[in-house]
Amino acid sequence: MIIRRIPSLDNRIRVTQHLSTGGEKAYTKSHQALKQDKDDLKDMLSELNSLIGMYKVKKLVSEIRDYITIQQQRKSMGLIAQPLVLHMIFKGNPGTGKTTVARILGKAFTSMGLLSKGHLIEVERADLVGEYIGHTALKTRELIRKSRGGILFIDEAYSLARGGEKDFGKEAIDALVKAMEDYKDDLVLILAGYRWEMEVFLSSNPGLRSRFPIHLEFPDYRIEELVEIAQLMTKKREYTLTPGAKDKVREILYDNADRGELSMGNARYVRNLIEKAIRKQAVRLARRTQVTRELLMALERQDIMEAMEK
Ligand SMILES: Nc1ncnc2c1ncn2[C@@H]1O[C@H](COP(=O)(O)OP(=O)(O)OP(=O)(O)O)[C@@H](O)[C@H]1O
Ligand SMILES: [Mg+2]
Repeated sequence: MIIRRIPSLDNRIRVTQHLSTGGEKAYTKSHQALKQDKDDLKDMLSELNSLIGMYKVKKLVSEIRDYITIQQQRKSMGLIAQPLVLHMIFKGNPGTGKTTVARILGKAFTSMGLLSKGHLIEVERADLVGEYIGHTALKTRELIRKSRGGILFIDEAYSLARGGEKDFGKEAIDALVKAMEDYKDDLVLILAGYRWEMEVFLSSNPGLRSRFPIHLEFPDYRIEELVEIAQLMTKKREYTLTPGAKDKVREILYDNADRGELSMGNARYVRNLIEKAIRKQAVRLARRTQVTRELLMALERQDIMEAMEK
């Protein structure tokens, strides 16, 4: 990316990006917009860093940042800037943070000047695949159009290959592959799904794998990580987990793990539990004549226990 001041545009800066093979585009951004980008990037990075675990994602983002800095410096010295293709495969169970990460990446890439809007459009098979010949291409193209400038995130992407050669899913895949090439400068495509299914899917579409240079695994969280996530979610909502409540969350997670249910929801399970406990706390406090700030914030063991009741 070259940043060059153009005096005739007074307060404006011309930003030229060179992102992927042959892809060069230009648009203008004001000083203010660039400063905003920098602030946004800072916010995004701190949001990303606040996530529990996710070491590979954090590393990837910092690598991309360094890469952009160096490519900029290379370009300014007349050297070839290497292409940057950001299409990704996310592999992991439900509730392991895939959507959360995609949303943050959209914003981070925008503030790095890699995407013009950074919004996230999350879809699944039914949103792409139509019911008659030509319908699928129409639906898929419309979603691609809406996603340009941001991220098109396809959940359970392997289901596109479900019906084999004759299925309309194949039409969707073809349209997506075309879009990945045509709009590689301002569209990131993320295919997400269970690890094993994604492997099978990529193996059955040999041309596809090589088009996705970034593969990220989202492993199931360990119990202690889930407890930390519970604490983070509570804090974000301006509540606190009393030590007794925190222990109860841990006990519940161990019980689930004993029953082999740990991966059935992961961080989403924890979120539902905390949100339900917050409602239980409200019921507990609503009839009190006097409440303190501390009471309004504290989630007690009892709230967690009641949240578990059907
Ligand atoms: N590492 C983490 N730290 C803090 N919160 C997290 C983390 N991972 C996930 N969460 C939270 O857990 C919830 C579920 O995450 P998310 O929706 O991103 O999962 P997902 O992998 O997209 O799930 P699905 O496959 O079911 O769509 C969200 O509220 C998210 O904020
Ligand atoms: Mg999701």
